[in-house]
Amino acid sequence: MLYASEHPLVRLKVAELRDAQTRPPRFRELVREISMLLGYEALRGLPLAPKTVRTPLADATGYDLAVSVGLVPILRAGLGMVDAFLTLVPGAEVWHLGLYRDEETLKPVEYYNRLSPQKPPSGDEVRSWVLLDPMLATGGSAIAAVDVLRRSGRRPLTYVGLIAAPEGIRALQAAHPDVDIYVGAVDDHLNDHGYIVPGLGDAGDRQFGT
Ligand code: PRP
Ligand code: URA
Repeated sequence: MLYASEHPLVRLKVAELRDAQTRPPRFRELVREISMLLGYEALRGLPLAPKTVRTPLADATGYDLAVSVGLVPILRAGLGMVDAFLTLVPGAEVWHLGLYRDEETLKPVEYYNRLSPQKPPSGDEVRSWVLLDPMLATGGSAIAAVDVLRRSGRRPLTYVGLIAAPEGIRALQAAHPDVDIYVGAVDDHLNDHGYIVPGLGDAGDRQFGT
């Protein structure tokens, strides 16, 4: 399933994010704000367990989350999306995954992974996994991240990104058809260097001022 937001607030914020004049402090704020808006949609399927809460007047139906949530930000750029998702789900676990794209081959290189099959999450209690990465370009990083999670039986899985290229969406859907994809915008194409056009440039560099 592909969800590409058409919400006017997401459009406004993505446009400001793209602007080459937007400096890192505002860029980080926008990554957080857009992540909140996309997270609201991406988490709409979370199951609830009813409970009773006491208002000042009477009993009312309240809720707890019926599952635990595991967030998997792909370093570096996915880090900027974590805070928004933790605001939405304060009890979520965060499992960092370090991947960078080789500049020549555009293939992802893994450099940090606490999600190996030998180290399942505590009690294996997490039941809903959310992959966070602002840019879906060739799709190589997202596919590699899903592979890491799948190898240890972690599912179901949702991918949330800010901007995607059609090439990346097609690749992720072909490799992992059961992963739901939520993005803030679908752009035109990839250039010869694997950058999304029009895109926003390098999401990691623009967040962290490097
Ligand atoms: C960027 C981005 C994704 C990846 C997308 O990360 O954050 O992880 O590229 O490209 P792909 O779909 O072609 O794999 P990058 O490798 O630049 O690392 P960084 O986050 O450390 O800057
Ligand atoms: N990674 C980025 O940060 N931007 C792109 O356009 C493609 C990959």
